[in-house]
Amino acid sequence: MSLQWRRTLLILGFAGLVFASGQAAEPMLLGNQSCATSTCHGGVIGSGPAWNHSLSTWIAKDPHARAGLVLRDNDSRQIVLRLNPAAADSDDVFDNVLRERCISCHVTVAAEETTAGEKLPNAVLAAGVSCESCHGAAEFWLDEHVQVDWQGEKRFASATGMRDTESVIGRAATCVRCHVGSRTDDGMVRDMNHDLIAAGHPALRFDLLFYDENMPRHWDASSEAENSFQQSAIRVRDVGRSITLAASLELSSQRALDHLETRESGSPAIRQVPWPELADYDCFACHQSLRFRPAESTLVSSGVPIWNAWSTVRQLEISPAAMASLSPMTSDSERIASLLPVKAKEWRAKAVALAAKDFSPSERLNQIRDELGQAKKLTWYEAAIQYLRLDAVQRDLAKDPGNAVIAEQMAKHLSTVEESLRFDPDRSKNQRGRYHSPARFDASKFRKAMNAAMQPAASSASTARSLQIFLSRSVASQP
Ligand code: HEC
Ligand code: HEC
Ligand code: HEC
Ligand code: HEC
Repeated sequence: MSLQWRRTLLILGFAGLVFASGQAAEPMLLGNQSCATSTCHGGVIGSGPAWNHSLSTWIAKDPHARAGLVLRDNDSRQIVLRLNPAAADSDDVFDNVLRERCISCHVTVAAEETTAGEKLPNAVLAAGVSCESCHGAAEFWLDEHVQVDWQGEKRFASATGMRDTESVIGRAATCVRCHVGSRTDDGMVRDMNHDLIAAGHPALRFDLLFYDENMPRHWDASSEAENSFQQSAIRVRDVGRSITLAASLELSSQRALDHLETRESGSPAIRQVPWPELADYDCFACHQSLRFRPAESTLVSSGVPIWNAWSTVRQLEISPAAMASLSPMTSDSERIASLLPVKAKEWRAKAVALAAKDFSPSERLNQIRDELGQAKKLTWYEAAIQYLRLDAVQRDLAKDPGNAVIAEQMAKHLSTVEESLRFDPDRSKNQRGRYHSPARFDASKFRKAMNAAMQPAASSASTARSLQIFLSRSVASQP
């Protein structure tokens, strides 16, 4: 039995899941040439309905279209050589690194391709992250999806193999497989671990709202489904973050399982999966400047690694005690492997509840202000999340013409907030910026900019009714 297969069984058995469509019937990838004719999705951009030029738009504009060929550029080369110096002298070794560690996320391929094998033809890489990576392998839906009655929920029934990219939850779940990482989905290992990051790969910090917005539209942006998706930026951001957190928890538990399995195998041929996996923890607990610094001004972390800070950031959601119990100092792989899937389930349920909720900008403004007021210390991560939440409020306000002026003022201040979160821009000049870290993050500057951004909503005469609750409370003054 292959390691991959045993792992899949282990994970599935462990999580108490069964493949919805049955193991034998995993749908096959058909490739995007089956979408390409001009009467299907390969039409001319700008003429006819959006679906008629989905593929043309993807080729012309989408970053995913070149995600495979990026693996032949110089940045990728540096990453690969750091992972395996022997790749410098052997194209075969080089391509096997690409196969085993890169293409599961960068190319739409079947799982077989991701094990060591022959040289990787550029034609395979040129496929990039294509249609079926997001819409699901097409074997069982290709014929059906051109029928007139191909509408509604039934398209996304598990037997069709087509993924739900329409709902907030469905779209988030589609992206996080690569933008966070995953193992169970289609039997492929997609892992952004500390090895890859230390070799120079960008750390993945997914935010559904930003990433969705930055994907060129190859679909009808005015459809009913899209309108309902776009209706609340606060919802997209909150649901996206819950799904991101659930995906990180699942990935960690799978790393723990892999560790246990490779440790037990005892075979020298099998590379031991390390534990703890450093990418599971707050980067800046370890990567921080050793200079003395005043209490809050440049605080990045207490020095005790907490579990994956990007998705757990708001301490109010997960108690400090619970966070501490997930620290690599106190956790063992068995415990993580059994605990995290349970937590992930809770967060998926939370995402479902959030997706059904109505979000009022004023309520959210009050929440942000209260939380900032209560937080004695503020790490960069926590600050970044509060910024993202306020940014979503601004976007929702901007949708109501009655709030246009406020929204515009907020937007200006928000760019100052964003600046306060940027990492040391000049990495060449000093050692501090070497780790591309927020070592110089100044929480009081951040708070000041946040208060300024919230102020227009509190003081504007033209504030719409939806902001009444907010108006009745003054903006808390921060030290
Ligand atoms: C877990 C999925 C995953 C794996 C595995 C992965 N990548 Fe990536 N990679 C991504 C994502 C997602 C991005 C986009 C990051 C962003 O902008 O948020 C990216 C970005 C990149 C970039 C920057 C691209 C650009 O346009 O600037 C390079 C270079 C890269 N990856 C190379 C590699 C190499 C080489 C490997 C294997 C050694 C690899 N990646 C493995 C998901 C992955
Ligand atoms: C990175 C993810 C991703 C990739 C890759 C991708 N899509 Fe999409 N696609 C989406 C999302 C998100 C939507 C919008 C929600 C929806 O309509 O399902 C969408 C919508 C569509 C629609 C519906 C258009 C409409 O307005 O009715 C079509 C058709 C489509 N995609 C075809 C393709 C084709 C063909 C490819 C490959 C060339 C492709 N997609 C690649 C994510 C993706
Ligand atoms: C099969 C893996 C995969 C899936 C699924 C996927 N992506 Fe990506 N995405 C990538 C990779 C790899 C890159 C890096 C491409 C590059 O820069 O060359 C990327 C890049 C991007 C970028 C450009 C980032 C930048 O820094 O410029 C955006 C935006 C993006 N993805 C959005 C999405 C959204 C939204 C979804 C879900 C609807 C999604 N992606 C699903 C793999 C994936
Ligand atoms: C528990 C401590 C710890 C955590 C947590 C941690 N790292 Fe590291 N990191 C190290 C150590 C030790 C090294 C040097 C050894 C190595 O290269 O593996 C390193 C090396 C690196 C390097 C290479 C730096 C260089 O100049 O060689 C980068 C980049 C990096 N880490 C980024 C990150 C990111 C991003 C995160 C969070 C996702 C993270 N690290 C989490 C301890 C940690």
